[in-house]
Amino acid sequence: MFFLIIGRGVGFFENCDLKTNRFLKTLEGEVCVPPPMWLMRQAGRYLPEYQALRAKAGSFLDFCYTPPLAAEATLQPVRRFRFDAAIVFSDILVVPDALGQKLTFEETGGPKLDPILTPKDFGRLHAELDRRRLDPVLETIARAKAQLAADTALIGFCGAPWTVACYMVGGKSSPDQAAARLFAYREQAMLQRLIDLLVEASVDYLSWQIEAGVDAVQIFDTWAGVLPCSEFERWCLEPVKAIVAKLRLRHKAARIIAFPKGPERSLADFTARTKIDVLGLGTCVDLQWAAETISAGVVLQGNLDPLALAAGGAALERAVHGILQAVKGRRHIFNLGHGILPHTPLSHVARLVEMVRRDAD
Ligand code: CP3
Repeated sequence: MFFLIIGRGVGFFENCDLKTNRFLKTLEGEVCVPPPMWLMRQAGRYLPEYQALRAKAGSFLDFCYTPPLAAEATLQPVRRFRFDAAIVFSDILVVPDALGQKLTFEETGGPKLDPILTPKDFGRLHAELDRRRLDPVLETIARAKAQLAADTALIGFCGAPWTVACYMVGGKSSPDQAAARLFAYREQAMLQRLIDLLVEASVDYLSWQIEAGVDAVQIFDTWAGVLPCSEFERWCLEPVKAIVAKLRLRHKAARIIAFPKGPERSLADFTARTKIDVLGLGTCVDLQWAAETISAGVVLQGNLDPLALAAGGAALERAVHGILQAVKGRRHIFNLGHGILPHTPLSHVARLVEMVRRDAD
């Protein structure tokens, strides 16, 4: 084991060459050089082949619920860039959809839901997920898994209860989620009931994804950072902790990534309390701080600024170098600090892959 720790020994590299599943090796305890990499929103509009598929698909939701198309979208970025993991092509908002809340995506891409604001609105939701509505996602997983090489992992996901609740309450995208935050202050009891429902729904949904074949799951808490510390604990940390505990009762070995996108102050004890395997970090987090503060038993994931990738050139080189230096010697999954932007040039992504694979030393 010692030679694994001291640096780039032969065994160090050989254990993690490009033909092994470096994503899984990292989760199992090895420090891989180069680190495994994938990008949040890697299946998306920056890819011309995605745009072509999207044009055939009708509405975005139909796209998510058509397994041959969704499986193809899942595989496209892996085929082009040989990422170490694919993420199932779907959306976090299929959960409210399967709870019976009316959901559409506008032409511009933004979601529209009938907001849950009163006990009557809440009462219209199902008591649990309608599994039949989600069967196509599970079929997408089986199809994608069957086509992926053994060296590439498949990641399933759900939104964290707080982030999903932001859309369920607000009804649309928002720069600050003010509607959901007001609701959290004014309607604590109703929000708690909604969060509890989402905890149970998320456990079911992630369990089904694991049973359908995903190797790991990611819980996206994109809006964790809009809450003050005291509220973060209740609406973000506790629900994720509950999901992890309940999921592991059903799947003891479940590999769980959480992405509580927010500042350092909320993350120091997040991993110890939630017992996740991987901590996804947003762009605003200092990776050096994370490497020094977060237990080495936790894999760090992140956190290149998507705008540095869009910019390319010297800014990208500097940012990637900084990340690789900050996490040197510890388990790390290279990723962005948020989703890839639609206008990102393909050549920048190709250069990023080359840098991470070649310069990681
Ligand atoms: O490649 C992947 O990462 C897998 C697919 C994926 C999508 N959405 C596809 C998608 C994943 C993991 C998500 C997660 C998601 N969806 C989050 C959490 C992470 C994040 O990015 O913040 C959130 C908040 C949503 C909700 C959502 N879906 C919004 C707000 C929007 C509209 C704005 C936008 O970014 O486009 C979507 C639409 C959506 N989800 C698209 C894609 C590829 C674009 C729709 C299109 O192609 O027409």
